[in-house]
Amino acid sequence: MASTALTGIGLLVTHDAEYAELHDAALVIDDGLIAWVGPAAQVPDADAASDLDGRCVIPGFVDSHTHLVFAGDRSAEFEARMAGQPYTAGGIRSTVVATRAASDQQLTAHAGALLAEMLAAGTTTTEIKTGYGLSTVDEQRSAQAAHRLSDEVTFLGAHVVPAEYAERPDEYVDLVTGPMLAACAPYCRWIDVFCDAGAFDADQARTVLQAGRAAGLGLRVHANQLGPGPGVQLAVELDAASADHCTHLSDADVEALAGSRTVATLLPAADFSTRSPYPDARRLLDAGVSVALATDCNPGTAYTSSMPFCIALAVREMRMTPAEAVWAGTAGGARALRRDDIGVIKVGARADLVALDAPTPVHLAYRPGVPLIAATWKEGQPLTV
Ligand code: NIG
Ligand code: FE
Repeated sequence: MASTALTGIGLLVTHDAEYAELHDAALVIDDGLIAWVGPAAQVPDADAASDLDGRCVIPGFVDSHTHLVFAGDRSAEFEARMAGQPYTAGGIRSTVVATRAASDQQLTAHAGALLAEMLAAGTTTTEIKTGYGLSTVDEQRSAQAAHRLSDEVTFLGAHVVPAEYAERPDEYVDLVTGPMLAACAPYCRWIDVFCDAGAFDADQARTVLQAGRAAGLGLRVHANQLGPGPGVQLAVELDAASADHCTHLSDADVEALAGSRTVATLLPAADFSTRSPYPDARRLLDAGVSVALATDCNPGTAYTSSMPFCIALAVREMRMTPAEAVWAGTAGGARALRRDDIGVIKVGARADLVALDAPTPVHLAYRPGVPLIAATWKEGQPLTV
């Protein structure tokens, strides 16, 4: 495969120790990987060259929490919420009805269209959860659709208890941890559980996560979104890769996260769209917690594919500096997926890159809502917007 030099990089933000930030930089892509990084004046010969005309280059965004496999629309629920209705997890069941009625081809095409939207907005890695099928066959179909589109697939059979099991939640946990897990695990890397009021309690969530671990999956937890609760502590206890949402945290939760390898993945688009308080990222960062940012793209609480939107919210509403927010949306997402080959620009890493129509990444928050993504490279392949 031919190598390509990217020259004329006004500012390169790598998240790597060697050149954290480098002005007047260049890099070389070879065989889908970064082959060289350094000052423009020293760029080695390559088969082709592309001049970025002073643009800023950062790693591609790593969106470590999405629910892309679904059908249907919940804009009426959003409208009602903006008129004062509270969000409850119950709305998930309406997406379950629509998802069960959709064909495999429709589910894959719809998720693929959202993925294309994400790529155009600079996202080069996307974790995708199941969780709107909630029967063995519909969860397996969802996992297969996700697996066609991403290597980072998460089994979320324990999203809520579906209507037909409303009176028998423990039987539903048996289904999730038995036949449903067996049907989905071949397509998944992770298992997740929604541990919150209206979904699963700590004991049920522990049972689900332990079954997933026994099936060879890594652990993630939807934790402390709707109120204070046991989700974060459970995630830490089981060494989950990530505790996601973290909107309502006690001091003990923050302390537990700080003493662990569990990343706190913050999802400000969900807090935006449910009109909830935002988590205080500063409190987490000052305590030494690893923080990631993700979209949570889903039809109920966060129907956005835009990491730049989440970065802008994190800076404005969650007391992150622009540099911290960009790190959280790239290297932080990679850490939440326990990956070190993405979210960073260094020799040997995947050539997943974003060029911004801006001199610095501060503009992602400073110019909210403006499409600043000039070009995206995924595994070295360019997509010009
Ligand atoms: O991450 N919290 C649970 N699941 C989704 C929302 C799902 C929905 O309302 O459809 C979330 O916010
Ligand atoms: Fe979610």
